[in-house]
Amino acid sequence: MLFSGKALSVQMLDNGIAELTFDLQGESVNKFNRQTVSEFSQALDAIEAADGIKGVLLTSGKSVFIVGADITEFGGAFSAGPEGIADLMNKNNENMNRLEDLSVPTVVAINGYALGGGFEVCLASDYRVMGDQAKVGLPEVKLGLIPGWGGTVRLPRVVGVDVAAEWIAAGKEQRPDAALTAHAVDAVVPTDKLKDAALKLLGRAIDGELDYKARREVKKSPIPLNDTEAMMAFFTTKAFVGAQAGKNYPSPVAAVTSIEQGYKVGREEALKIEQEQFIECAQTDTAESLVNLFLNDQKIGKVAKGWEKKADKKIERAAVLGAGIMGGGIAYQSAYKGTPIKMKDIDQKGIDLGLKEASKLLTKLVDRGRMTPAKMGETLNRIEPTLSYDGFDNVDVVVEAVVEKLKVKHSVLSEVEGKVSDDTVIASNTSTISIDKLAEALKRPENFLGMHFFNPVHKMPLVEVIRGEKTSDNAIARVVAFANKMGKKPIVVRDCPGFLVNRVLFPYFAGFSMLVRDGADFQEIDKVMERWGWPMGPAYLMDVVGIDTGVHAEEVMAEGFPDRMGKSFKAASDVMYEAERYGQKNGKGFYNYEEDKKGKPKKVATDEAYELLKPHVAEPQEFEKDVIIERMMIPMATEMARCLEEGIVDSPAEADMALIYGIGFPPFRGGIFTWLDKIGMAEFVKMADKYAELGELYKPTERMREMAEKGETYYGDK
Ligand SMILES: NC(=O)c1ccc[n+]([C@@H]2O[C@H](COP(=O)([O-])OP(=O)(O)OC[C@H]3O[C@@H](n4cnc5c(N)ncnc54)[C@H](O)[C@@H]3O)[C@@H](O)[C@H]2O)c1
Repeated sequence: MLFSGKALSVQMLDNGIAELTFDLQGESVNKFNRQTVSEFSQALDAIEAADGIKGVLLTSGKSVFIVGADITEFGGAFSAGPEGIADLMNKNNENMNRLEDLSVPTVVAINGYALGGGFEVCLASDYRVMGDQAKVGLPEVKLGLIPGWGGTVRLPRVVGVDVAAEWIAAGKEQRPDAALTAHAVDAVVPTDKLKDAALKLLGRAIDGELDYKARREVKKSPIPLNDTEAMMAFFTTKAFVGAQAGKNYPSPVAAVTSIEQGYKVGREEALKIEQEQFIECAQTDTAESLVNLFLNDQKIGKVAKGWEKKADKKIERAAVLGAGIMGGGIAYQSAYKGTPIKMKDIDQKGIDLGLKEASKLLTKLVDRGRMTPAKMGETLNRIEPTLSYDGFDNVDVVVEAVVEKLKVKHSVLSEVEGKVSDDTVIASNTSTISIDKLAEALKRPENFLGMHFFNPVHKMPLVEVIRGEKTSDNAIARVVAFANKMGKKPIVVRDCPGFLVNRVLFPYFAGFSMLVRDGADFQEIDKVMERWGWPMGPAYLMDVVGIDTGVHAEEVMAEGFPDRMGKSFKAASDVMYEAERYGQKNGKGFYNYEEDKKGKPKKVATDEAYELLKPHVAEPQEFEKDVIIERMMIPMATEMARCLEEGIVDSPAEADMALIYGIGFPPFRGGIFTWLDKIGMAEFVKMADKYAELGELYKPTERMREMAEKGETYYGDK
């Protein structure tokens, strides 16, 4: 053994080949934490000093290659300013250069994920052989960053500036076929043949059959582009990337800038340019929020895994009641992720619709080459449409997704309870009815809870798992396990009107109604909130949700929280509802909807909505952008604070992720508590107090005032 550490080792194979194996002890994946970086450097010392080495093979001892940097180390390093950031990056940059400058050829066997720093070490090697199940990529922009260990320097020299800019700016993982086509890797082989193939390639380089030195020269030299070519490439790419990312996400453009400024110079200088861009990105609020978001995502994943472990059994068979929009979506997602599911309705038409929707989604995957027709058949076969309860005694979990009527749900729930086995967990996908109230119909309320999906099910990641008064831990564990298996992000919350997400969304809508009442233009509100980062403004969102659904939910919220959400005026949504403008579903709401060329609804502005609103709202007046934002966001923030204080949600991290995954809260802001922490509670309280006359939703809680006084934050020291 030439080197043996806790993160990697180097051992001599036959024929003078040294194998450097990444295998981080005590972790399921390899990552470039400080330990790995330091041992990588020591391993290179050993390789450089050893006699008789003819070539180096890089491998992984885990099912992934290397997933990237250790993001938990970012927070501390980034807050130490430019020097701290440079310090975190420099050592591994040295490592990459030393690997690239070894006096012998190097080949990497990419057996699984090689992302970020993991892919950068591959690029620093001379040859890359990829397993057919592996993925490569530079996803740093997803954290508001750019590659910092030579990715923007080496990738364009390996695959060309256009492909490199596209890959880095999008941050997507690349499959073996795409990597091979782009010449990012030299060969793709079945995983079990990977090491042999890599060794063979290394042998050819050692024998002089392959000119590895010429390859290195390309990676260390300027890129041979003339000025016109460069201008064409960078000008259009930057404009395109900038438009795609939007002003709130500066790092994709910074990545292209790094390539642009570095293409004319050699490796060392180009690396310096990359580091400047990296440091600039690392200091943005966007990077801070996105890094925080990544860590929060890991936290909620761990919590969910923790629940899953507590389940008495694995979810092998499921059932859904109601084959409508939601039931069809739930059946599809369950089948797609491998769990057979019975889909029961009382109406054959409903079943036909549910199946049609599932096969439409699958056909799209087949058309895009992401699924074979055979797999599509298998998936559809996992959905068992039925009009009866036959076989329900054999399912582990049932999701009820019938119409939103207490009476109907009560009768359906008690009926199904009689058909399933004693331990089957029954979950309701209700969006507004109290879980405790629904549980009244059941003999085994401990086996009952809420499983609230968002529409469309296949797209929206969040599932609220709602614990009722009598729900057992095992019932929660099973439903969390089912959501995990469906590839969703389950967050466990307590029962209350609106549960978590709708409970804070409707105060936001109330903020909207008050602004419109006071003379604000709803289109202007939409624009301002979209610029703030929401995927759609509140009027448009209500149209998409359905005005009728929204009005019904508003009533539920008003009943549940009369002091804060009781209405004292006719809201814009009521006006639309009374005029039967139900939103996108019937082609008219705040906006009118037409079909675009692809048959999708396209919103168009209309005077009709303004005419209807006129008698119910103040004279039109302009509101400052900041006033609109504050009046919209304060109610959501104060209500979320209440949810945390009341234990509806367990932690700021879960609350932040719920809004991001459930309703598209702007990710670059990290979530509502991250946003509040950034503003500072003292500042927020001052801001909210300006609007005290607008009612209870604008009043910070006592705890918020206390936090303001003590200078506390939700995330504390993280
Ligand atoms: N649509 C949404 O955006 C959304 C989002 C989250 C939750 N939800 C909730 O999901 C549930 C279903 O909503 P949807 O939009 O899919 O409704 P939907 O009207 O599209 O579908 C309801 C289906 O239930 C069937 N049904 C009625 N009674 C039944 C019974 N006794 N047994 C079996 N099937 C029966 C109907 O035939 C219909 O196919 C509701 O509780 C709703 O509040 C809806």
